[in-house]
Amino acid sequence: MRILNLYHTTTGNTLKVAERINQTLLDLGHKLDAVQTGRETEIDILEYDLVFAGSGVYAWLPGKPMQQLFEKLRAAYAQNGLIKPAAPRIPKKAVIYCTYGGVHTGINEAIPAVKYMGQLFDHLGFEILDEWYVVGEYQPEKIREMSLNGRLGNITGRPNEADLQEVEQKVRGIMRV
Ligand SMILES: Cc1cc2nc3c(=O)[nH]c(=O)nc-3n(C[C@H](O)[C@H](O)[C@H](O)COP(=O)(O)O)c2cc1C
Repeated sequence: MRILNLYHTTTGNTLKVAERINQTLLDLGHKLDAVQTGRETEIDILEYDLVFAGSGVYAWLPGKPMQQLFEKLRAAYAQNGLIKPAAPRIPKKAVIYCTYGGVHTGINEAIPAVKYMGQLFDHLGFEILDEWYVVGEYQPEKIREMSLNGRLGNITGRPNEADLQEVEQKVRGIMRV
């Protein structure tokens, strides 16, 4: 089984989650490709049987480089006739995850980011096995108080070891499917 972990991180929070996913898969004896999005990312998600895809949430959506990559992939797959009416299922699976701060409306402002990423996979016919929402503190100095006074209360230090343990256990669960 070919496994991909494709992620975008701006301030390092999603990187922590991505690394725990990678390490858990390796501990379970799986090989994987881990790809952090950048300007030149070239990837064909259809080469994989299981894809983990994640990003930090910025203005309700994944980070811009992730959006740009997904738009490029969507256009290319559509051009090649791989995005079909009724999106017939293919034997591939995806897990979509994000880290988010939720200062204004809590998890509701992270849901569009996860749905956005999930739609590329759903359009191609992947089964979306799960969506993981992991809390991530606001790192930039100028907006650090947002980690204290938002809808989620005090989220300083998140994702913390307990959050990452939960991710690890969910990876272990997914790999039993
Ligand atoms: C400029 C900026 C904008 C953000 N906008 C949102 C947002 O709209 N909704 C949200 O839930 N979190 C928002 N966050 C919090 C981030 O999603 C959170 O810290 C996340 O863990 C960052 O992940 P990353 O470090 O992997 O990029 C924002 C953070 C920054 C720095």
